[in-house]
Amino acid sequence: MDPGSVAALSTSTRRAFQAAYGIAPAVVGRAPGRVNLIGEHTDYNAGLVLPVALPHATYAAVTPRADRLVRLRSAQRDDAWEGDDLGPGQVDGWAAYVAGVVWALRESGVEVPGLDVCVDSTVPLGAGLSSSAALECSVAVAVTEVVGRKDDPDERGRLVRACMRAETEVAGAPTGGMDQTVALFAEPGAALLIDFDSGVSRPVPLALEAAGLAILVVDTGVSHALTDGGYGSRRDDCEQAVRALGVGSLREATLDQVEGLEDERIRRRARHVVTEIARVSQAVDAIGAGDWAALGSLFADSHASMRDDFEISCPELDVAVGSAVAAGAVGSRMTGGGFGGSAVALVPSDSLDTVTGAVSAAFADQGFKPPTYLLADPSPAAS
Ligand code: ADP
Ligand code: GAL
Repeated sequence: MDPGSVAALSTSTRRAFQAAYGIAPAVVGRAPGRVNLIGEHTDYNAGLVLPVALPHATYAAVTPRADRLVRLRSAQRDDAWEGDDLGPGQVDGWAAYVAGVVWALRESGVEVPGLDVCVDSTVPLGAGLSSSAALECSVAVAVTEVVGRKDDPDERGRLVRACMRAETEVAGAPTGGMDQTVALFAEPGAALLIDFDSGVSRPVPLALEAAGLAILVVDTGVSHALTDGGYGSRRDDCEQAVRALGVGSLREATLDQVEGLEDERIRRRARHVVTEIARVSQAVDAIGAGDWAALGSLFADSHASMRDDFEISCPELDVAVGSAVAAGAVGSRMTGGGFGGSAVALVPSDSLDTVTGAVSAAFADQGFKPPTYLLADPSPAAS
């Protein structure tokens, strides 16, 4: 469950950079992974989300070059990459997330020179905890420093947009913006309520310690791939619902309108989105009132909605959620894009061992690969 010492990873990333390129890095950027408490597949529907930044983070050591070449290495990957053609269709694999950020920043008018980059991370890759956004944002904040731009909320807004373009246009994952926003705007001790209609976000303090609770993440080890089609097909279904209802987005649709949709699949997809947006508001109220039982039942409704209406769960996620709650979790649900990845559970701190033991035992019973765990102590944004 250890997120790894920040100082240690920053130092080892510097060392790896020095070993690879023969000089010390000019700057090291850091950006966190995230776990979403509630509000799934609502970001691209102009809805609400409530993620928390993880203590687990990606570090990017960066030095500017005199030319336009970009050279990339990662401790998590054997293949290094270099090139000066960074845009859509030019870069494959993991390098696309990094090259894409440089490309998108240049497109937005920032004069980014060539760069040498070396990254390392404690965010598990492909676990639904946004290692890709952590990678993009760690590079983006490092580049901001390298080019000498002021780090303020406006600049961070520009970085969110550039990282989203990297992910959607260069890496080809049609995601919605939650991950980059929380990586760049999270505050410690709080979840971040993001409204994708107004574009406004605000911290929602969690006071977990006072409540004797912890946020446990269960990584099922089932790898999801956002470029794989399931995520994109859910977006298409939502767009079909928007067209059939004649609304600007599903944020504007009422449950009554949605229940009148003729196509049964589209109706269920839209019902998930509309009810999930309402659940985020209710979750914020429950947290404000310290009503953890109410939050737990919202988690349960959210999971059922994703399993039955949006159809993005899988047996491992269902077993993780069911066994966590049976063993004493206040609430649990799958988190992130779905089709694998992780579940999140709100657990009394003194029951953590009981809950992880029960989930591991349930996985063994089913013949699933053992899950892994991490604690999501609400952490600060990129720096
Ligand atoms: P998630 O964001 O949930 O972890 P994604 O499939 O969106 O999952 O992103 C995972 C991909 O991001 C990896 O397969 C890899 O291409 C890239 N990636 C993320 N972190 C790193 C890293 N530290 N080094 C290299 N590539 C990374
Ligand atoms: C993520 C994606 C986000 C969001 C989420 C589902 O993995 O990157 O933008 O749509 O799935 O809530």
